[in-house]
Parts: sequence; structure tokens; C-alpha cells
Amino acid sequence: MNEHAEHAHVGPRPRRTFAIISHPDAGKTTLTEKFLLYGGALGGGSAGAVKARGDRRSATSDWMELEQQRGISITSTVLQFPYRDHVVNLLDTPGHRDFSEDTYRVLAAADAAVMVLDAARGIEAQTLKLFEVCRARGLPLLTFVNKWDRPGRTPLELLDEIEDRLGLPATPMTWPVGIAGDFRGVVDRRDGSFVRFTRVARGATEAPEELVSAERAHREEGDAWDVAAEGLELLDAVGATFDSELFLAGELTPTFFGSALTNFGVRLLLNSVIDLAPGPGPRLDVDGNPRPLDAPMSGFVFKVQANLDPSHRDRIAYLRVCSGRFDRGMVLTHGRTGRSFSTKYAHTVFGRDRETVEDAYPGDVVGLVNANDVRVGDTLWFGEPVEFPAIPSFAPEHFQVARVTDTARYKQFRRGITQLDEEGVVQVLRDAELGDSAPMLAAVGPMQFDVAVHRLQNEFGAPVELSPTRYTVARVTDTASAAALRGMQGVTVLARSDGTLLALFESEFWLQRLIGDKPDLVLEPLVGTGLAG
Ligand code: G4P
Repeated sequence: MNEHAEHAHVGPRPRRTFAIISHPDAGKTTLTEKFLLYGGALGGGSAGAVKARGDRRSATSDWMELEQQRGISITSTVLQFPYRDHVVNLLDTPGHRDFSEDTYRVLAAADAAVMVLDAARGIEAQTLKLFEVCRARGLPLLTFVNKWDRPGRTPLELLDEIEDRLGLPATPMTWPVGIAGDFRGVVDRRDGSFVRFTRVARGATEAPEELVSAERAHREEGDAWDVAAEGLELLDAVGATFDSELFLAGELTPTFFGSALTNFGVRLLLNSVIDLAPGPGPRLDVDGNPRPLDAPMSGFVFKVQANLDPSHRDRIAYLRVCSGRFDRGMVLTHGRTGRSFSTKYAHTVFGRDRETVEDAYPGDVVGLVNANDVRVGDTLWFGEPVEFPAIPSFAPEHFQVARVTDTARYKQFRRGITQLDEEGVVQVLRDAELGDSAPMLAAVGPMQFDVAVHRLQNEFGAPVELSPTRYTVARVTDTASAAALRGMQGVTVLARSDGTLLALFESEFWLQRLIGDKPDLVLEPLVGTGLAG
């Protein structure tokens, strides 16, 4: 049993449930590892255990085989560990941009996010896109400027870039002493103390920290200190002070400087997640009414995942607890079907390990095994019925038609397609006339197709071929407009499994022209339009 599990069940300590977002390579995985290190959750192992780089012998499923071939991380995980007197739930998000839809769903279950930037690169394409998702959800966002141990930009340049590109004021909470590449430590702006770091090899253990007075810092750090002191004066002069209300409204980002690799600044960041980020609050139901935290147990599913491990060939639904206390074995009601749902097999999922969970509280995530009817967005409740809003799907920008190449496997194909649709691996669109034989698969990123094809073949025994189409833009329409659109060139109308009608267009230009010509047509943008790509 991991060390974290012993602590995880002691009772309703305050929760902090958040996700880390970053452009690939900015350091999300490294920072995750370091949070676990500081949370004492590596169970005797050293940092490096989360993603065993270069050592994928533990790969246990076909799916992971695909990850391995691609060298990317597709599966998201939930990491829970105690820190100070809190319990931290760190929701991992997939690194590759093609899986941003997964990230979107994970962010629906988070109460805050940490944005990691590479000090030399600043805001990158994927950072921007993920930030837009956080903004759309009004999530409070902390920023960690990483890799300060390497040459990069100046702190002021980076702050300006965050403000300019994201339209989000960045308030430094720590201030680096020593330029990027010659990093000595940070000043904690809350109390003016200088925290000096000592490097440990590859950051395998916590970085020793020393509190140094201003006089001593001036003596020992020389110019580096004086430059930092000037910067700090400037910040005070321009009134760059932290405002908790703006932060909680997602209108200001407290910013930290550090290096995840060497652990510099990691403790200060984690402490600030505890001190500044909000705990779970009452979640609004579909009618906009809050479900009080102390109402009977309820939660919603933000991720469904099958086949993580061949020795458990089943399906896990990740449930974010929104109210009440979850006790393993309680019988919940599955909102969409009205059926009862036994939670005898409930787990916490730590990385790739599963452990039985006995109880859980708002903010926690429970992995429900054998969740065969459960889909992303579904509500499960106990005692008093509630329905939480669906998690909107991202606007797909890639569309391919799927056909089974061995017609004897048609049944398996249909079953597989339904499963992938319910998990949200791809969105499945159907033509009322063509039916199920050649569904259109819609994706935010093309790699979703690879996962779909691989799983249809390996998990369902249904070999498929995909044919590309020319469609690139989707809009939501209604029955009346659909009838008008169907006869037009360069347009097709298909139905999603939830009944939504989507009109697909070959180009944004074509779509805009049509809107210009026929303003009465219903053509609503999907959530996330313009974020993908
Ligand atoms: P990601 O999950 O956001 O994709 O990034 P990841 O943590 O995998 O980090 C990407 C690379 O950046 C890794 O190097 C990692 O060691 C390095 N890195 C992370 N944080 C820091 C930091 O604070 N300073 C410096 N100098 N480097 C950092 P790699 O060469 O791809 O992997 P590895 O061979 O080092 O394991």
C-alpha cells in the first residue's frame, strides 16, 4: 500500500482539487513529480516514478503499447496525497494537444489550475488554448514560470507577455534572485523573506532552503540581490499586489518563479495552492441551483476509460464527488437511466495503481469499476435527485468516415464504435439514411483517430479503415435548418448520439458566406470553437 493511501482515508480534511496545464515540454510531468515528492507521496521512491522515462517495461495494455510507440501520455490519472492539513487531488491532463478534449473534461472537475510556462518560451500555442478553457470555466489560475535554472527571459518580459497574450494581469508572488540561468532563490513577496536554494542532483530530494536576511543577501549575493531588490521596489511602486477576489474570479494570476527540475520554488508554489486556491464549493445543477456540500452524496463523471490493464478488462468511470460523503458500497442512482448503481467496486486510482476506496468527500475523485452504462457528463446521486450540467464537447475540426474492412466483424465494429463514443475517445456522427454502417468520426486532434482505430482493432477485433473527408468546421443546427442545408453543396448534416444535429462545412469561408446569404439558418458555434488547432 502506498503511503498516500493511509492518509487519504482519515476523514474530511480540506480538499484542494486542481489540474496542471502546460504546453508539452514546459515541465508539467516534472512538476507533478515534485508535488508528489513534497507531498511525501512517492512512497520511498524518488522523483521520476510518475513517468518512468525510457523504462516502459511496465506497459500493460494495448493502449499503453500505443502510448509507448508514440512516446506520449494518453491516459490521465488522478493523484491524491496529503499535504499539510489538507488533501490534494491533482488531476493529470494529457500532454499531447490532440487530446485537449480530455483536458477540457478534466478541467470541468477541477477547482483551480496551475499553468506551467517555460521561462525561455513564455506563452506557447497549447498554453494559450488551455488557458482559454480555464477562462471559459472561470477557473482560478496560478502561474509557475519554470526552468529558471536555464537562460531565459527577464521576469518583467514574462509578466508582460502573460498580460498581453492572455489579457490576464500576472502578479508575482515570488521574485527571482539571480537571472534565468543563474538562479539563487526567490523572495517571498508576502513577507519579504529571501529563500535561498541549494541544488540537489536532479532534484531527487527536496531542495534545501535557507531563509536569508536582506543584509546578508546583499553581502553574499551581490549584484543579483541588488537587481532583485530594484525589481521588487518597482513592483511595489506599480501596485502589483495580489487580490484574492480577482484571482478567485479568474481575473488575475499569482505568478511564481522556479525550477521544477531542481525543486526551486516548488514548496512555495504548493503552499500557495493550499493557501490561495479555493476548496470545493456547492456545484450548480442544470437549473442553476447549488447543491450544498452537505447535501446527500452526488457527483458527475468527467472521464470514462476502458481497458487500462488487461487483467481488469472493464470500464472505469471517474466520478468527481460534489456533495456529501461517498461510502463504498452505497447504492447510487444513475441520473440518465434512473437505474441503481452499486459502488462495491470503487477505487482511488493513483497513477496506474488501483486501490479500493472506502470513503470520499467533495473534491475527491472516485474510480467506479464496471461502469458499463455510464458516460461522460452523467450524474450519480444518493438520497435527493440532482442533475449536473453536461460537460460541453469541444468543437471537432477533423472528420473521417469509418468502415469495417471485414464485414463478418460488423457487430464488433458497432459495439466498439458505441463504446468509443460513450468514452469520448472520438465523437460519432451518423447519417439518418446511412445508419451505422459508415459513421463519421469527429476529432479535435487527428491522433484521436489513431487511438480509435487501434482500439477497434485490438480491443473489439474490428479492423477498420478511415477515409478522410473535406469537412473542417462543425456548427449545431436544428431540424428546420437541417432540411434547408441538406440540399446544399459542401455541407452535410449528421446527428450526434445525444441527438444534436451538426452541420459540417468544408471551410470557415464557405460557412461565413452562407451565414451572410441566409442569416435565418440556425448555425450555432460549438463550445471550444476556435480553441482547437
Ligand atoms: P511536460 O510534462 O510538460 O511535457 O514536460 P516534462 O516534465 O516531461 O519536462 C520536459 C523536459 O524539460 C524534460 O527534459 C525535463 O527534465 C525538463 N525540465 C523540466 N523542468 C525543468 C527545469 O526546471 N529546468 C530544466 N533545466 N529542465 C526542466 P527531457 O530532456 O525531455 O527529459 P529527461 O531526459 O530530462 O528526463
